[in-house]
Amino acid sequence: MRKGGGGGGGEKGRGVCVCVLRFYWAARVTVAERMNKYIVPASFMASVIGGAVLIKDYVTGGTCPSKATVSGKTIIITGANTGIGKAAARELAGRGARIIMGCRDMEKCEAAAREIRGESLNHHVYARHLDLASLQSVRHFVSKFNKEEERLDVLINNAAVMRCPHWETEDGFEMQLGVNHLGHFLLTNLLLEKLKKSGNSRIINVSSLAHIVGRIDFNDLNWERKKYDTKAAYCQSKLANVLFTRELAKKLQGSGVTTNAVHPGVTNTELGRHTGMHNSNFSSTMLGPFFLMLVKSPILGAQSYVYLAVAEELEGVSGKYFDVMKQKDPAPQALDDETARRLWEISAKLVKLENEKPTPQLKNVPFDNVKPNSKSLMEH
Ligand SMILES: NC(=O)c1ccc[n+]([C@@H]2O[C@H](COP(=O)([O-])OP(=O)(O)OC[C@H]3O[C@@H](n4cnc5c(N)ncnc54)[C@H](OP(=O)(O)O)[C@@H]3O)[C@@H](O)[C@H]2O)c1
Repeated sequence: MRKGGGGGGGEKGRGVCVCVLRFYWAARVTVAERMNKYIVPASFMASVIGGAVLIKDYVTGGTCPSKATVSGKTIIITGANTGIGKAAARELAGRGARIIMGCRDMEKCEAAAREIRGESLNHHVYARHLDLASLQSVRHFVSKFNKEEERLDVLINNAAVMRCPHWETEDGFEMQLGVNHLGHFLLTNLLLEKLKKSGNSRIINVSSLAHIVGRIDFNDLNWERKKYDTKAAYCQSKLANVLFTRELAKKLQGSGVTTNAVHPGVTNTELGRHTGMHNSNFSSTMLGPFFLMLVKSPILGAQSYVYLAVAEELEGVSGKYFDVMKQKDPAPQALDDETARRLWEISAKLVKLENEKPTPQLKNVPFDNVKPNSKSLMEH
């Protein structure tokens, strides 16, 4: 009985054990299943966030290592009422410079200048009218500047329009080429004498990584024959910024003026105002937060400008391309000297540079050899 009873108790015990084990396994599987349900998306999110932080670190490039002040120096920044230009104006005003903000909208420009004066406690921050989509406005700006200012130490060609509809400037140029390249081309050339007189001055041409897919189409620079492609037009204009820098550096050799091009990194500004993502509710609510994780603030975007404007180690460095604060080779098409020379010639003709008093560097430009193919461009 005892044996039997004992045997019954053993079976009972085994049964209990089996039940406990089954319960244990069932519970483990359920917990694991539940955890799996959360682990996969959680680890995916963690990877996305981790990746975003790494990419953000990479694109950010840090802050300007130089603490140099710029008291007594005069700096022009185009398109300084918002975005990276405004942040650069704030930082350089904080370092003591006299800042001339060249903007097309005087209300926005005055408001930004007031804000920067208040924050930096530097009263020498001035709003001036400059519409780069009008050659006449560029000439007015320079003539006022030359009357008012003794010197020019740094010119930051920052303003730009990106992927706008097929608009034209006052002078009939396709808007992105007209503002981003031709307006700055004329502005820079008209300011060269002042820059040279000031000694050790610097010109910073703000380009973009987008230049790598850019192509200068000399057969149809102005988008009159082919279907307008807003992206390609922006990339062409940003490639033109690098080519302009290359040719200008050659012409400025020995003058004491240096020029470099820069990609400031992907920055959260108003630049995308004409793009689908900016205007779509879906994109801005669903993709917006991810975008914000990847891009940097305008203050960080401006670090590359500040670096190129003040860094002591860049004295004498000219004709180079900087990816944020690192000197790099631009795309092969941006290293093509013949394209750079040809673009200079045609740009000089388009903005009627030959009508200006020629500077010694510009005397050799063979304007007569320019053969723009576009009929309407030839009329300019
Ligand atoms: N943000 C980026 O991720 C990024 C990346 C690579 C390169 N970049 C380059 O960085 C520079 C600054 O861009 P951002 O991002 O600061 O853009 P943003 O916030 O749109 O600022 C552009 C500035 O240019 C001005 N502008 C446009 N058309 C003009 C004209 N006809 N005359 C005078 N000013 C004009 C704008 O004035 P309004 O306010 O009156 O329009 C604005 O002040 C650009 O050259 C851009 O190509 C930016």
